[in-house]
Amino acid sequence: KHCILLGVPLQEGTGRLGCDMGPGGFRAAGLAGALQELGHSVEDRGNLAPAPQRPLGHPNQAIKHLPEVVAWTEALAEASYRLGAEGMPIILGGDHGLAAGTLSGFSRRAAETGRPFFVLWLDAHPDFHTLDSTVSGNLHGCPVAYATGRPGFEGYFPPLAAPVNPENICMIGIRSVDPAERTALTAAGVTVHDMRAIDEHGVGPLLQAFLKRVAEANGVLHVSLDVDFLDPGIAPGVGTTVPGGATFREAHLIMEMLHDSGLATSLDLVELNPFLDERGRTALLMVDLVASLMGRRVMDRPTRAGTA
Ligand code: ARG
Ligand code: MN
Ligand code: MN
Ligand code: MN
Repeated sequence: KHCILLGVPLQEGTGRLGCDMGPGGFRAAGLAGALQELGHSVEDRGNLAPAPQRPLGHPNQAIKHLPEVVAWTEALAEASYRLGAEGMPIILGGDHGLAAGTLSGFSRRAAETGRPFFVLWLDAHPDFHTLDSTVSGNLHGCPVAYATGRPGFEGYFPPLAAPVNPENICMIGIRSVDPAERTALTAAGVTVHDMRAIDEHGVGPLLQAFLKRVAEANGVLHVSLDVDFLDPGIAPGVGTTVPGGATFREAHLIMEMLHDSGLATSLDLVELNPFLDERGRTALLMVDLVASLMGRRVMDRPTRAGTA
């Protein structure tokens, strides 16, 4: 594949500083080299710059840095739309607020090709707050609500060319949901596999069912990987750690199955905070997970009938 790396040093969507160093962390951890070793071509487009800011006031006084996050969303929605036609974009965050841009841009690209757009959301959090419902005011808690066209973003965030169908979103690893998000997720028809579902069934069958749906619909699949999806014991380099996260093998299995499916067309790597990391171990783990997604394996496996 042709992998296009784009850094998005957005940090205003979180409550703490340091995610602006995320793109540098992924580069220092050897992302480009790991992809090249697997036979992919890699083009690093450097870091994106935000669009010009305009003053924006919102009645919800809790909201932080709305002009900044909107400016990044405008630039990234456009960039994602363009990159989606050029290869496999890998977005190096930056906080998860950037998914407002990637989801809207990649969804717009998919709509143009006439294929349905699906999202695999790997995260401790559903990030399903509207501007009105967010309590923390941290806008990294809002991108999925925006991209699915929930009301209240009009006049602040850019209009959506192709809102994401919430029924085409599968969330895995969820274990921190605010009350307003809980009811809205169910009403919208988002598939939410919380950590209990993983404990009961294992990630394999849960993911396989979703991938089957994507394949049968001839869909395009965007993967959004938040560092806090992982258990804090293996991934401390993130501001929003939540106990009881995905294990090393659960995370790798997901990536390996995604690779075998051949369905993933774009990827967000978000919430890495190198200031909070320990000797780069979180960044290195994230790079290893990307390598699994892009074809690294221990042994070759027999190919399933009818698949490449
Ligand atoms: N639901 C919480 C909030 O809105 C946490 C969001 C965490 N999001 C993230 N991308 N880490 O503040
Ligand atoms: Mn500000
Ligand atoms: Mn998130
Ligand atoms: Mn999260």
